[in-house]
Amino acid sequence: MFGTRQTILSVLLAAVVAAQDAITANGGNFTLTGDDVSYLFHVDAANGDLISDHFGAPVTDFIPPAFILGWGWHDNQANDRREFPDIGRSDIRLPAIHIEHSDGDTVSAFLYKSHEIIPGKPSIPGFPATYGNDTDVTTLQVQLYDNVSDVSAVLSYSIFPKYNAIARSFKITNNGTGDIVIERAASFSFDFPNAEYDVIEPHGDWSHEMNTVRRKVDYGETGFRSTEGYSGHNHNPFYMLASSSTTESSGEAWGFNLVWTGSFEAAIEKASNGYVRALLGLNSLHTSIKVAPGESFQAPEAVAVYSSNGLGGVSRSYHDLYRNHLSRHQATMETRPILLNSWEGLSFDINDTALVDLAGQSADIGIELFVMDDGWFGLEYPRNNDSLGLGDWTPNPEKFPDGLGPYIADVTKIDVVNASTNASTGSQIKFGLWMEPEMVNLNSTLYNEHPDWVLHAGKHARTLTRSQLVLNVGLPEVQNFIIDSVSKILDSGAVSYVKWDNNRGMHELARPSDSYQYILGLYHVIDTLTTKYPNVLWEGCASGGGRFDAGLLHYWPQHWTSDNTDAADRLQIQLGTSLIYPPSAMGCHISKSPNGMTQRDTSFTYRGHVAMMCGSFGLELNPHELSEDEVAALPAIMDQAHRVNPLVIHGSFYRLAGPQESNWPAVQFVSQDGSQSAVFAFQQQYTTKPGAPPLRLQGLDPKARYWNDLDNGTYSGATYANAGINARFERGIYLSKLIWLEKR
Ligand code: GLA
Repeated sequence: MFGTRQTILSVLLAAVVAAQDAITANGGNFTLTGDDVSYLFHVDAANGDLISDHFGAPVTDFIPPAFILGWGWHDNQANDRREFPDIGRSDIRLPAIHIEHSDGDTVSAFLYKSHEIIPGKPSIPGFPATYGNDTDVTTLQVQLYDNVSDVSAVLSYSIFPKYNAIARSFKITNNGTGDIVIERAASFSFDFPNAEYDVIEPHGDWSHEMNTVRRKVDYGETGFRSTEGYSGHNHNPFYMLASSSTTESSGEAWGFNLVWTGSFEAAIEKASNGYVRALLGLNSLHTSIKVAPGESFQAPEAVAVYSSNGLGGVSRSYHDLYRNHLSRHQATMETRPILLNSWEGLSFDINDTALVDLAGQSADIGIELFVMDDGWFGLEYPRNNDSLGLGDWTPNPEKFPDGLGPYIADVTKIDVVNASTNASTGSQIKFGLWMEPEMVNLNSTLYNEHPDWVLHAGKHARTLTRSQLVLNVGLPEVQNFIIDSVSKILDSGAVSYVKWDNNRGMHELARPSDSYQYILGLYHVIDTLTTKYPNVLWEGCASGGGRFDAGLLHYWPQHWTSDNTDAADRLQIQLGTSLIYPPSAMGCHISKSPNGMTQRDTSFTYRGHVAMMCGSFGLELNPHELSEDEVAALPAIMDQAHRVNPLVIHGSFYRLAGPQESNWPAVQFVSQDGSQSAVFAFQQQYTTKPGAPPLRLQGLDPKARYWNDLDNGTYSGATYANAGINARFERGIYLSKLIWLEKR
């Protein structure tokens, strides 16, 4: 389309210059400006390629690139910093886009055609994405065209200046006459200059989620992926890059997060010229997506954040951005009811009378939401263990002879009692339940009737995990089945909360792209149900944190963080999760001690403090089995949880010390208006020497004075930050303190 340098320049000069300051287009030079970030790229006037210039602290000018000797086997694009790298034209690094064209070749040449700057941010139909109005966000859409293959691309950039965040996605349209196949799609791709970087990434497994590892970005590829069909426990669609000297609270760091619940791939490639390409997108093993003539492929959105205030700065930007511009559920910015979940206390051993009894005991200790977990459904295959019943969403008649309606009515009549005063609060306990709608057991009526509804690959064995198979949510009939089954349950009584579980990964896929279609089908289902039942508090769960991702957080305000409820382990899991997701979105419960999984014995107060660091705080035990000490500790913990919850939901979160590095982990919340702060301090083991380091607080106004309830002192923000305070733990293991500060 653009044969000459002249033509490209004239198109660029004719382009409309944006009225918004957040994005300017000067000829072919694009500048995205946030409060503390600049993102620059330009059109190469010689060939129409997009070239990366800068992503980092504010700058005001475009500078010429580094000189790199162009001799050798690769020239041209091989030494460019590229914005939307394709493959086949001398760039031998990993591409952001890889297409098999209708004639079988995989060379692409996406060249600049035009652009548009739009106030606000258009939605991406069918996909979860960040959102905002004209004052929150500005969008740049760059149209690219591959003349040879008749394929076009729209590359979208939306900048949220207040959060130093840029959301990127792209759409490919097949304008030719034959099918094309998308083999690889990285929603974010940026070429950094030659410098020393580390990559910080969460890794783990079931009950061991979100540990973090920091490693040097060296020559070649550094990467990780999920091939589980879901975001998974082993990694998360998220990583940070940081300068080697960056710490938790200082230095440059960049975050990259894919707003996607399916398989993903993260790759950081350092080339021989030192340039570092950061990529994040779909897993190419689960792509191969066919696009027919006239149709389009949409890549999910990825969100990048820059901070010059270390890893903590990146985390807080994501927390604020996601609470205000990703999670669309009305409860996102509301304090959450204290809940009791029946799972660890009763397992599958439930029935209506036992549960009404448990709800009564729960209400007596101040529980506001009673959650019936697994075990309540199944006609022909009663759900008495995890090998049967999934898919048959009818209350089991032996456990619930009158159905769910009358039982829920009995529960929701019970008055909630204030645990400290023993007086009725005047409110009744709410009711919630567990479902796992995307799954089916072999032992179920659903599977007998619809064996073809599960993900499977021809005659290959359908491998089981937790005795279950995955329904193919890419199929419209399965989507309708789930919407109908869940609606029926929600219509049968006053259900205020749903825990939506998902307990295995995808194995056999008929086509790699089934995973992509499944996730789009799932979003359709969840979008429909959350729109139909906006007052239900939805909590995601996937054997704990197996799908703690930004895709689901768009629809649901909270997620069960881990099946591991051991408070000492939870410190690591919760702090790791907070690298990207806000504590307000985490579900955390006090379970019995010694812990059922780890056998570790910890005090009720320690368990309570760890759990109340999350937006959705609760208990997961049988209140009957509480010891005298635990009963004595409970009222104070309930009071503290109520007091702290508004700060967890709305406030800013600081990791003062992590359990991986310190025997004295600590975190801090600061209220939005800066007038209050809550510090959680822990001592894991007792050591005679050395003593604990002072807790140097963050986020306070250095000049203001704050009273604290630890030593009843009033000190300046500067003193708290630079000298710190001493929690003064005495002898003992697994100790905790909640320190409350108020501006005076
Ligand atoms: C999963 C969840 C648990 C619980 C059980 C019920 O493991 O993560 O919290 O709901 O299923 O079977």
